[in-house]
Amino acid sequence: MSDGNQLTDRPSWKALEGHFEKVRQLNMRDLFAADPRRGERFSVEALGIYLDFSKNRITEETIRLLLDLAKSFNLRERIDAMFAGKKINITENRPVLHVALRTPESQGILVDGENVVPKVHQVLDRMAAFATKVRSGEWKGHTGKRIRHVVNIGIGGSDLGPMMAYEALKHYADRALTLRFVSNIDGTDLAEATRDLDPAETVFIVCSKTFTTIETLTNAQSARAWCLKALQDKQAVAKHFVAVSTNADEVARFGIDTANMFEFWDWVGGRYSYDSAIGVSLMVAIGPDRFREMLEGFHAMDQHFRTAPFEKNLPVLLGLLGVWYGNFFGAESHAILPYDQYLWRLSAYLQQLDMESNGKRVDLEGQSVDYQTGPIIWGQPGTNGQHAFYQLIHQGTRLIPCDFIGFCQSLNPMGQHHDQLMANFFAQTEALAFGKTAAEVEAEGVNPTLIPHRTFEGNHPTNTLLAMKLSPEMLGKIIAMYEHKVFVQGTIWNINSFDQWGVELGKVMAKRITSELVSEAEPSLHHDSSTNALIQRYRRFRSV
Ligand code: F6P
Repeated sequence: MSDGNQLTDRPSWKALEGHFEKVRQLNMRDLFAADPRRGERFSVEALGIYLDFSKNRITEETIRLLLDLAKSFNLRERIDAMFAGKKINITENRPVLHVALRTPESQGILVDGENVVPKVHQVLDRMAAFATKVRSGEWKGHTGKRIRHVVNIGIGGSDLGPMMAYEALKHYADRALTLRFVSNIDGTDLAEATRDLDPAETVFIVCSKTFTTIETLTNAQSARAWCLKALQDKQAVAKHFVAVSTNADEVARFGIDTANMFEFWDWVGGRYSYDSAIGVSLMVAIGPDRFREMLEGFHAMDQHFRTAPFEKNLPVLLGLLGVWYGNFFGAESHAILPYDQYLWRLSAYLQQLDMESNGKRVDLEGQSVDYQTGPIIWGQPGTNGQHAFYQLIHQGTRLIPCDFIGFCQSLNPMGQHHDQLMANFFAQTEALAFGKTAAEVEAEGVNPTLIPHRTFEGNHPTNTLLAMKLSPEMLGKIIAMYEHKVFVQGTIWNINSFDQWGVELGKVMAKRITSELVSEAEPSLHHDSSTNALIQRYRRFRSV
């Protein structure tokens, strides 16, 4: 760090603190009244995405100071370091190169002196060959039947990405194929996913970066047993199982021929991986051409992030606004509210992307931070959320900044559905920003005792992201935008957004407890009194 040890000691931070005291009471009603052009002034358009950030508790000075903060944290240099393949994941000594997954073949990115882009394209070509064979019926099952069902087995980044993207792009999918996603080690997940499938027509795609993840390996083993029970021949595995991993040795040890493995690399983080071979199930569903269109969208956003001035840069603006609310207003969470049913898993996907990346409490130097880092990410598609949790956003005591994501055109035009959906989309951000004063409620002749209950304070911040329509390319742009937003925030907070040590402890402890749960002899338990009693109780009743 160049000036001061902690973020909060820096002049650029102190300047924002001083500014915050001046503007914290500002009301959006007044801000909009004072500037009839505010809506235009605080909006940018890039790559077909219109970002209106005018309904935020900001002034031009706020943006200027936030941009100064980004500069004082050498954001530009950090971006260049990531794109250049520098080992910015310092705790794992790795580059962070999900951007290489969508780099055109004509461009190169060096890792330890090797250009990694050609091998990205070799794998894409192999995936395309596989996807085409499955889609055309050329890839036959062991009994000669055509494959009709594809089951992706994976968890975390090896599940959420392809699953979210499959749901998002279902409109473009081959409906003759069934796609299912199994992640939970709860046997119910696999049982329900396979109960109506014919093993002779089913291919499993086992996705695991490490190929050591207990949930995925357990599910894959049970899937193999399910398949072999029906097909009665070990040779069937070659036709019904493919793997996606960075770990060829473990894939082979599991019993999948590495000829049926699609590779990716340790410089791709799990939660940044669905545009790698981890997305092969998606490619089977939508076809290689659509998949490549999605990669083009990712790449376009990468270029935008890398080259657009910060004041017009979508990920930079979104990241800085998040810092403004999390670190100055004390907002604990951030809601993602897509007004498109196809994006119904987007917030679940962004939960991992953001919370596993920026849920850190020490900085790059290993010092405990004295400021908040990653927010809690949550949300549901509109309008469902409106009839569930929006009450709290409108009238609760917490400040919850929200991203509203909508499209001008529906993929399923039907009567007035889309106009009504979008009317709600616009109405919500307007209502959140401007609320309804007690005087306005009173003027409606409302019973005076109800006035406080029917008053809306307003001044709730929202970003509006409006695009033409949801397409593979647009999905790529949106996901890359959020990936880079997370990067911007991780840079400001001076944390490593690319490791996830926080998931280790529970994994190790679960391993030990598994043996205690299943041992024949009464195990001597050395946990705390709560955990000991719970384990004993479970042992008593598990097979009653
Ligand atoms: O436990 C967390 C995690 O390591 C995630 O980061 C990752 O996406 C997930 O597990 C699955 O890991 P893998 O792809 O190696 O099975």
